[in-house]
Amino acid sequence: MARTKTLSSDFYHSSSIFSQEIENIFKNEWLWVARSGDLSQAGSYITTDIIGYPIIILRDQSFNLKAFHNVCRHRAAKVLSAKSGACKHMICPYHGWKYDLNGKLMDAPKFFAHDDFNQEKHSLFDISIEERFGLIFINLNTNSQDLCHWLGGFDAVISQYFQSNLVHHSELRFDVHANWKTYVDNYQEGYHIPIVHPQLNRDVVWQEYALENKDEYSIHSVPERRGSNQPGSFGWHFPNFIFNIYGRGIVFQRIEPLKPKWCRVVYNLFRPSDVSENDFENKEGKYQLEVSLEDQKLVPEIQQNLQTGIYNEGPLSKKYETGVSFFHGLYLKKLNLEKTK
Ligand code: FES
Ligand SMILES: [Fe+2]
Repeated sequence: MARTKTLSSDFYHSSSIFSQEIENIFKNEWLWVARSGDLSQAGSYITTDIIGYPIIILRDQSFNLKAFHNVCRHRAAKVLSAKSGACKHMICPYHGWKYDLNGKLMDAPKFFAHDDFNQEKHSLFDISIEERFGLIFINLNTNSQDLCHWLGGFDAVISQYFQSNLVHHSELRFDVHANWKTYVDNYQEGYHIPIVHPQLNRDVVWQEYALENKDEYSIHSVPERRGSNQPGSFGWHFPNFIFNIYGRGIVFQRIEPLKPKWCRVVYNLFRPSDVSENDFENKEGKYQLEVSLEDQKLVPEIQQNLQTGIYNEGPLSKKYETGVSFFHGLYLKKLNLEKTK
C-alpha cells in the first residue's frame, strides 16, 4: 500500500541511520562513480572516494576495467595518491610494496617477513566494476547482482535517449548542506515546479506531469509546450542514479551521501558530437544549471527545518508525490524497517 506520509524527520539527520544506510544500502547497490572515457589506455587510473571509501579504478594491461579499495595490505596507506594518471604497476608510497594492475602483490621489498606471511594472500581488496552508457559503476559488494540486472527496465528507458555519438560536455559538482534523501525527495516530485522552476514551468504542461514507479526506479514524464524544445523526461533509480533530458543530449546525475547532513550532487552533461560546445552550453547547459541552482537554494532550508524537532512528518499528494512515497517505501524495505515506520 502506498505511503501517505513522509519519513519522520530523524531519518534526515541521525548519524546512526546514516551508518545503517551506508551498510545496508550503499554498500550493496551499484554506484556511478566515473566516466569510462577518462581511462583511455592500459594502465590509466583514477582515484576517488565514494561513500567514505577510497578506491582505485584502472584499466589493466588487457584494457579491462578493474576497481580496488585504495588501501595497502601492509599498514593501510593509500597505494595511489594522485587523482589520476597512468602506471605499469602500483607502488605504495609508505614502504614501497608493489602491486600489479590486477591488484596482486608482486614484491614487498626488504620486508623480512615472518614465517606465516603468505604473499599470495595480500592482493588489494577487489570491488565489482561495470560500464554502461560511458559511465563506470562500482559495487562494494563483490557478490552483488550484475549491473544489467540491477538497472532492469531503466536501461531501456535511457537507451531511448542515449545516442552513440554523444561526447562529454561538462561536469558540475555541488556540495549541498542536506541529507541525500532531502535531495532525492525534491527530485522525486514535480509538485514544486510551478513555484520553484519558472522557466521549466513555462516550457512544460505541469498539470500533466506523470510518474511511473516500477521495480526500483521512477520515470517522470511531462509534455512540452509547443515550441519549447523541452521534452521533460527524467528518471531516478534507487538509491541515487538519475538522468535528465533538456532538449539535446543527456545529463547523468548522482546524489552522493557525504555525511548525515551533507550530500554531493554531481552532473555530467553529454552533447551530440555535431552540436558545438557553445551552442549546447548556452541552451541545455544553462538550463540544467538554472534548474539545479533553484533546487539548491531551497533544499538546505528544508534540511534545517528537518533538524529542529518542530516538524516530524507531513502528508504526501496521491497525485503528484507518488515518487516520494515510492522512494520511502523502497528505502524502508532496504533497511528492513518497513513494518515499523
Ligand atoms: S603501508 Fe604500503 S607498504 Fe607499508
Ligand atoms: Fe526541482
